[in-house]
Amino acid sequence: MIEKINQLLSEIETLQISNLDELEALRLKYLSKKGAINALMADFRNVAAEEKKTIGIKINELKNKAQEKFNDLKEQFESKDNGALELDLTRTAYPIELGTRHPLSIVRNEIIDIFARLGFCIAEGPEVEDDWHVFSALNFAADHPARDMQDTFFVENNEDDEKIQNNIILRTHTSSVQSRVMEKQQPPIRIICPGRVFRNEAISYRAHAFFHQVEALYIDKNVSFTDLKQVLLLFAQEMFGADTKIRLRPSYFPFTEPSAEMDISCNICGGKGCPFCKGTGWVEILGCGMVDPNVLELNGIDSKTYSGYALGMGIERITNLKYRVNDLRLFSENDTRFLREFESAY
Ligand code: DAH
Repeated sequence: MIEKINQLLSEIETLQISNLDELEALRLKYLSKKGAINALMADFRNVAAEEKKTIGIKINELKNKAQEKFNDLKEQFESKDNGALELDLTRTAYPIELGTRHPLSIVRNEIIDIFARLGFCIAEGPEVEDDWHVFSALNFAADHPARDMQDTFFVENNEDDEKIQNNIILRTHTSSVQSRVMEKQQPPIRIICPGRVFRNEAISYRAHAFFHQVEALYIDKNVSFTDLKQVLLLFAQEMFGADTKIRLRPSYFPFTEPSAEMDISCNICGGKGCPFCKGTGWVEILGCGMVDPNVLELNGIDSKTYSGYALGMGIERITNLKYRVNDLRLFSENDTRFLREFESAY
């Protein structure tokens, strides 16, 4: 009997089974009511009393082995079945979703491209700045309202008026990069400075605590207001179309003299007047002017030899005009439904 059991044991061990039908055959042959193991059980009655213990253990071993093998294989085949469901070869491939460029990046790159063609190079500066580069070096008086707590985010605030220029703040405009470049480099300077800026504003559809600007600065011998006007016209027409007209209105900035704000003919109604331009036919897009000689001197450039112009614009503003986004908050919410609308814009 022992021999018979051993033979069945090695049979089960070496058995090769490759599908559910063969597995069922295994069950029938060994584990069913009429199977080999039950037959052994029946014979067990005739086993001599002194052998009962050894043979009993052996039969149990055989029974467990057979059951284990059956269970393992069954699990294997069943999970293979599920696997087959997942591997439906007739299915179309997963669509791989491509990201899209952010509208502000698209417009920033467009602005940079236009100025790069005119020989402007990109310059960058830190977002966490000191008061000197954001305000003092740009001719802001110590009591200028832009320095006020209400506009500026302070990182380290010095109450002492003497040391005000050491205050550490978040830059409120990219004009700070002007002084960063001037302190290191003598003219000719021809730079474009894109970057993020911060102001302590309540967030709404038309104001945000952070936004983006591009600053341009050109300093050389004999730079005149005519040069500025020419660049402004070219920029406006490249950006908004060849029919775009520009208009300069006198304005004030501490770092430019004279200063102006530039309007373009409303690109939504073509200048006829609509709700967007409040019926005027014009929309404001940037500030500009001739670099104040004080600013040149404060930054180590001889104002008798050199002159220059500067201009600065908000990227959100340009983007709103180009794509009519009417809520500033959309730019920083990362709602993919919004972002995907710009898929074909670059
Ligand atoms: N820095 C100004 C602002 O944030 C924008 C600006 C105005 C920049 C006139 C200039 C400029 O370079 O000449 O509102």
